[in-house]
Amino acid sequence: MGQFVIFQTFEFVLFHNFPLSPVSIHLNCNQAMQTDIDACRAAVAAAKQVAVITGAGVSKESGIPTFRGKEGYWKENRPEDLATPAAFAANPKLVHEWYSHRRTVCHQAEPNAAHRAIAALEKQKAQFLLITQNVDGLHKRAGSRRLVEVHGNIFRGRCTACSYTVDVNLEPEPAIALQCPACAANVRPDIVWFGESYHPADLQTCYQFLHHTDLVIVSGTSGVVQIPLHLTQVARERGARVIDVNPDNTAVSELADWHLAGPAGEILPQLV
Ligand SMILES: NC(=O)c1ccc[n+]([C@@H]2O[C@H](COP(=O)([O-])OP(=O)(O)OC[C@H]3O[C@@H](n4cnc5c(N)ncnc54)[C@H](O)[C@@H]3O)[C@@H](O)[C@H]2O)c1
Ligand SMILES: [Zn+2]
Repeated sequence: MGQFVIFQTFEFVLFHNFPLSPVSIHLNCNQAMQTDIDACRAAVAAAKQVAVITGAGVSKESGIPTFRGKEGYWKENRPEDLATPAAFAANPKLVHEWYSHRRTVCHQAEPNAAHRAIAALEKQKAQFLLITQNVDGLHKRAGSRRLVEVHGNIFRGRCTACSYTVDVNLEPEPAIALQCPACAANVRPDIVWFGESYHPADLQTCYQFLHHTDLVIVSGTSGVVQIPLHLTQVARERGARVIDVNPDNTAVSELADWHLAGPAGEILPQLV
């Protein structure tokens, strides 16, 4: 029956010169997208326990560059020169300067509609967790409270010798001179760098929550850093449905039930 319908459609297009203009293709795409958005909104409303996983793309509409992609940070800088323990050991001043610059960019940025939609969703759900790879603090500024910043926070420093953490302010190059108040060793950005392990307690919180989650919304992550992909896979294996919001197709989109191909700031507010 299915094949018959396809054959009929094909014949009709072939012999009757069906006017499938770019406008009608565009309309069909928009209609399909709207249908998906409606289905996702219903899934969000029905879900009892919701996890949101975000990456750099969610802050792009706030003016913060992503890492990969055309205008990403890693086009101009090599990760191994700036975001590894070896880089910090070799040239702490360079690393601090780079983070100081990024801190200023983050400070000047404002949360966008995507951050606000995620904060609003948290208020609707008794069981909610936001897992973010972003270090820019914009989720908190938008009102998110139940969140795990798995890559750390750019406004925090951490002692290289003990586990003491300090708030890092916006004075010119403040972190360069910062010494640990507890043991006087040098302070480094409290960021999880390439080649470093995630904090076990953070991961435990994420995995425990995802074992019981019925819906995962992923947005703004390329999935190249493996943790968002793995967390999503784990939730999916436990029966969660997955929505991916990203203009591009990624490894996360491949395993999602719905891929809403558009900017987070436009799409996420329509789901909440
Ligand atoms: N020191 C560091 O800076 C450092 C070190 C280690 C790891 N990392 C991490 O690596 C991670 C990289 O992974 P990532 O996935 O977060 O960033 P990414 O740059 O790899 O990917 C960004 C994704 O966002 C999408 N996107 C672009 N605009 C969007 C929009 N408006 N709405 C929704 N999506 C949009 C892109 O299509 C892309 O898939 C970062 O989170 C970063 O924390 C950074
Ligand atoms: Zn110390």
